[in-house]
Amino acid sequence: MANWVSAGSVKSLQEEKAKVIKGGIGVFYHEGDFYAVDNRCPHMGFPLHTGSLCDGILTCHWHHARFDVCSGGTLDPWADDVPVYETKEENGELWVNQAITVSDKKEKYKQRLMKGLEQNLGLVIAKSVVGLINANVPAQEIIKIGIQFGTTHRNHGWGPGLTILTAMSNSLPKLDTQGRIQALYQGLSRWRVTAPGSRLST
Ligand code: FES
Repeated sequence: MANWVSAGSVKSLQEEKAKVIKGGIGVFYHEGDFYAVDNRCPHMGFPLHTGSLCDGILTCHWHHARFDVCSGGTLDPWADDVPVYETKEENGELWVNQAITVSDKKEKYKQRLMKGLEQNLGLVIAKSVVGLINANVPAQEIIKIGIQFGTTHRNHGWGPGLTILTAMSNSLPKLDTQGRIQALYQGLSRWRVTAPGSRLST
């Protein structure tokens, strides 16, 4: 039970419908079930418990990003998936498991980085790089994702992008964490310079 935190009585949660609990977790009662998500909207941090929940879709009220409240998957790629947490009821009380496993996080951010590259979404690329570095994924692994993507899509303008990515990766040993994040972001997002406004179909 080390990672489990109480969200209060089931009865009061059913009446409240949405609340924020310890750890900044938004808890929702919707169509007979409980859901828990990181309460900060992954787009720009708006509190999700103030959003609306309809047919399993949680909508943030700032820029209207939509999320599947069960999986956390976003319907709007310019936002990002929101982390979700396991819930359970015990003796009339609702409990939320605050733990997200590190391996889940790494895999999630790798997939998001691929999505950001495929759809040319700078914000998603930036967030994925930050997430991967914070999850202690070696920079070489992040660069490898970019190189694999770049070599597959050379015809779309990744030739110069690969050169920039290589130059940025050479500078990494001299940089601190913040500098490494910036260099990786620059290296991974430069293909847009040669293919402005384009989208790749994969
Ligand atoms: S902060 Fe939620 S959609 Fe922008």
